Amino acid sequence: KETEDEIHYTVDAQKGQTEIFDGYQTDTLGYNSSFLGPVLKVKKGQTVHINTKNSLDEDTTFHWHGLVIAGAADGGPHSVIKPGESKEITFKVDQGAATLWFHPHPLGNTAEQVFNGLAGLFYIEDDEADQLDLPNEYGKNDFPLIIQDKTFDEEKQLNFTEVKDEDGMMGDTLLVNGTVNPSLTIGKEKVRLRLLNGSNMRNYVFKLSNDQAFTQIASDGGLLNEPIELKELQLTPSERAEIVVDFSKLQDTDQLALLTGEDTVVLPFNVKEERTGGDNVNIPKQMNSIAVTDEEKSMKVTKEIVLDGMAEDVTINGKKLDIDRIDFTQKKGEVEVWEIYNKPDEMGGMIHPFHIHGTQFKVISINDELPPENLRGYKDTVSLDSGDRVKLAVRFDEPGIFMYHCHILEHEDNGMMGQVKVE
Ligand code: C2O
Ligand code: CU
Ligand code: CU
Repeated sequence: KETEDEIHYTVDAQKGQTEIFDGYQTDTLGYNSSFLGPVLKVKKGQTVHINTKNSLDEDTTFHWHGLVIAGAADGGPHSVIKPGESKEITFKVDQGAATLWFHPHPLGNTAEQVFNGLAGLFYIEDDEADQLDLPNEYGKNDFPLIIQDKTFDEEKQLNFTEVKDEDGMMGDTLLVNGTVNPSLTIGKEKVRLRLLNGSNMRNYVFKLSNDQAFTQIASDGGLLNEPIELKELQLTPSERAEIVVDFSKLQDTDQLALLTGEDTVVLPFNVKEERTGGDNVNIPKQMNSIAVTDEEKSMKVTKEIVLDGMAEDVTINGKKLDIDRIDFTQKKGEVEVWEIYNKPDEMGGMIHPFHIHGTQFKVISINDELPPENLRGYKDTVSLDSGDRVKLAVRFDEPGIFMYHCHILEHEDNGMMGQVKVE
């Protein structure tokens, strides 16, 4: 009964067991499965119905990270679904092709639920992006990679309480798409990797083991204007990037790996002679047209956000979240300039990834300079080093209450979050 115009999904948060390590059953959470979730695909222009169902024995919510959606359907902490209950949400997709994701957002309990496995991907497709010569055969030359760090106890159970760092979970085991010791077999061709940093607090700097350059084609909110050649790419929690890696120059005996900045192997690649994704692609020189307008450049800052503190002492503008307090208001459809400042402290401070619900924003400047080219597309999370001052052009196209917060999930749970009401 699905049509071009309409699509239905059920997303069921459930408990289960997963054999992450050979011979061990680990208690995990997942959507429609025991661990993590499906890739939901929708098209720009489609009306989407999602039946959200809570089969857990605790409260949860279903948040669509990066989606332009009304506050009532956005799944923030106001939209609790009780155990055993379900709720259908309906929305029309009105944004371009992008790799988004979904995860729970219950007040004070987001970090643990995500850590235990609740996270899925949400792809938006559109006709314009489909016309571009980019790898887009799912599972052949186009792969999602959800990268997370976890800690397991001796019985190989997920161990959320053993926090390795006072700011949040720093796991000692890297998982890609929920597996330990993953590997990916690909052909001698250009392959698209959709990276999601789905970790609670760990930052990653990705690179290839042979130091080969790769091409970033998309950021959080969709395709960049132009492909960007990079040798290293940082992703802080919740950030996404789509990269294209050209494996065609390798020998079939070569193994190549995606590493983090610490040279930890994230994912070894087995390169096979044959192409699996059909003809090799030529990435187009222009893929999108996103620009900060002159008007936006000349606009005054109307919302000032100060990120401060570490561990339990985190605040925004000196306050912790009060779920009954609206911190800001903004008119639907109107751009405002938000200035985010990451206040250093005596200890030097730390990176805070700043995220806003219900919008894709543009980065106007970082410390009064133009952002690097790969931050000139749509973003929903921007990483701030200690002392950074970032200006954003923010517009909401749907009404409702939207959260903005640090995406270190333990910081969010500790109240590093505020609310903007859009009317
Ligand atoms: Cu990933 Cu409040 O969001
Ligand atoms: Cu979000
Ligand atoms: Cu933070």
